[in-house]
Amino acid sequence: MTTTAYIGQSINRTDGPAKVKGDAKYAFEHHVDNLAYGFVVSSAVARGTIRRIDATAALGLPGVLQVLTHENTPRVSPSKAEIPDEAKSPGTPFIPLQDGDVRFSQQPVALVVAETLELARYGASLVHVEYDVAEHTTDLDAVLEQAHKPKPRFGLEAVPKPRGEAKRAFGEAAVQVDAEYRVPAEHHSPMEPFATTAIWESDEHITVYDKTQGVQNVRDYLCTLFGCEEDQLRVRAPFVGGAFGLGLRPQYQAFLAVLAARVLKRPVKLALTRQQMFSLSYRPIAWQHVSLGASTDGKLEAIMHEAISDTSRFEDYCETIVPWTGMLYQCDNVTLKYKVASLDLNTPCDMRAPGAAWGLYALECAMDELAASLHIDPLELRLKNYAERDQNESQPFSSKALRECYHQAAMRFDWSRRNPTPRSMRNGDTLIGLGMATGAWDAFQVRASARCVLKADGTAIVSSATEDIGTGTYTVMTQIAADTLGVPLDRVTFELGDSSLPRAPLEGGSFTLASVGSAVKSACEKVRERLFALAQKTDDSPLADVSLDDVTFTDGHVRMRHEPSRSVSFVDAMSQTRTKTIDKTVSERPSPKRKKISCYTHSAIFAEVHIDEDFGTIHVPRVVTAVTPGYPVNPKTARSQVMGGIVWGIGMALEEESVIDHAFGRFMNHNLAEYHVPVNADVHDIDVIFVEEQDHIVNPLGVKGLGEIGIVGVAAAIANAVYHATGKRIRDLPITLDKVM
Ligand code: MOS
Repeated sequence: MTTTAYIGQSINRTDGPAKVKGDAKYAFEHHVDNLAYGFVVSSAVARGTIRRIDATAALGLPGVLQVLTHENTPRVSPSKAEIPDEAKSPGTPFIPLQDGDVRFSQQPVALVVAETLELARYGASLVHVEYDVAEHTTDLDAVLEQAHKPKPRFGLEAVPKPRGEAKRAFGEAAVQVDAEYRVPAEHHSPMEPFATTAIWESDEHITVYDKTQGVQNVRDYLCTLFGCEEDQLRVRAPFVGGAFGLGLRPQYQAFLAVLAARVLKRPVKLALTRQQMFSLSYRPIAWQHVSLGASTDGKLEAIMHEAISDTSRFEDYCETIVPWTGMLYQCDNVTLKYKVASLDLNTPCDMRAPGAAWGLYALECAMDELAASLHIDPLELRLKNYAERDQNESQPFSSKALRECYHQAAMRFDWSRRNPTPRSMRNGDTLIGLGMATGAWDAFQVRASARCVLKADGTAIVSSATEDIGTGTYTVMTQIAADTLGVPLDRVTFELGDSSLPRAPLEGGSFTLASVGSAVKSACEKVRERLFALAQKTDDSPLADVSLDDVTFTDGHVRMRHEPSRSVSFVDAMSQTRTKTIDKTVSERPSPKRKKISCYTHSAIFAEVHIDEDFGTIHVPRVVTAVTPGYPVNPKTARSQVMGGIVWGIGMALEEESVIDHAFGRFMNHNLAEYHVPVNADVHDIDVIFVEEQDHIVNPLGVKGLGEIGIVGVAAAIANAVYHATGKRIRDLPITLDKVM
């Protein structure tokens, strides 16, 4: 991949100034006249039915406009099975206020709409709900035996086929590791809460500002539920303050805001409180069992990995926890199993590196346990079992620079200083631990489209209905468009977050750069072709007798590649041919070259922990990670993504846990005071190394998405460092000081 003017450069965010100045408006910040405000009443019980709901007191307040409940809300869709949602789970999606059933604690049971937010909130406190309470179960351990095989999601099997005879090989292996790992629910907790402003002008004209990772997904969903046409309801999300997967599915506040707007025939806005954010989905609770068998020289002879994660009673959320285990290491005897167990909780959903974050935590801890049993260095164990091919699919990788990641990160971290004996490294009362792990994530590409409009003044508007959830989409797409067109960066405006733009997939799966970026490149190439044809038609064109292959597009000119002074400016080409705009829309599919090839991104993580011997407090002074980006389009935004993933990995290892009180069936720490995430004092040196790969198969840009890989393996590296520091294996996250003591 050759470096061009902008691709490969650490360009500052094009949307940065708007965000810093406060010009970037989020879903709740769009003000129009005559707004009404909604406030959600949340269920106080985990399971049951609403016996009586009394809104008299709320409705008696001057300024309260309406209280919507299941008793007065129109039924929205005749057949729920047909409700579109690109990120749906098999089952019956929850739509609020459609019946009196309570499926999970904090489920929305009423919506109060009032002239002001304060009044709506006060009104909500006066809505009196009586329940016929049913028995609930929210403890995964209590239902492990009743787990069932989930239906596939996205048509993907959660479990690759077994190979060899893992059980027998494990029994015969000279060295065995057999361990169970437990992980809690985690809530996404993006800084911007979920909110919607539904600007109602008529039932045929509604603009919805929503917090989402998929404007068209929400548009399609709402249009189906409310029976309107695609051009009657427009969804916009120009700025999104973090989402992490929670915005992949339409969330209930969007439905409620549009419902209220249609009922009241006026604009309505609605935001969830931080507490109510814990009523949305979460990373599932999971139990895992990993068995590894190896020869005395450290060759893996058997791998068995079994996982059970929770789901709701109304949908099967399927988490791809175990496939990575069959892919990451060379081993001929592998059995992977996965089931879900239903609880009286909301359906879990994707959260940054869904499946891999949990699965590779367990596998990479088990690998560390195996290394300790074998008295082999943990890094050496990985290298001994390095997979040159993807054995799950029995096919090669498009590229895999993991070996180089191990090497560069180990050097940077100075792994060789590690004394292999646990509790052997200390500084006074501080135990020092060094641990490492491997990470992997898909390098997906999915179908996406983009439009490029070049104007006669040499400026371009490039667009696609994708999102920028803080990842840098605006910036990288602008870079790709500017380079491909051959114009300065400030001549390109990239538009996104609008359902009326060309079709784009959800902003997720780390596939936006690869998918939408490839479409942007392709649309700009189509514009170039047209420009070239126009440049040939100018008076005495110096390019009249050359072909497209002979020219470049740089600095606003079509130029002869080997004789750059022979050129026609874009402005001349267009003005002389009386062309006002060149307008091309392209839909780009994944290349057929990807068939029979596995495309992944990999990482190697090294972590240092300092643990106070008396108090058990854990600090993470340093994390070094080496990641394969294919080619980094913008090293600055790329590094930010990986750093964010590592920070979350620290939280996953040491802090994050949504604690359920099973007596109430409710997440009890539903606020950011008690749901702990890493803050500045918890985050120290983070070193990100990019190990580039020349990958001509993965996509036309040769890029691999980096939104998710940063988190994968971090919790394992830290857990392994905690073992090295203390000699104690803690197999349930988070590793808090009480478990260390
Ligand atoms: Mo990601 S969990 O696909 O937003």
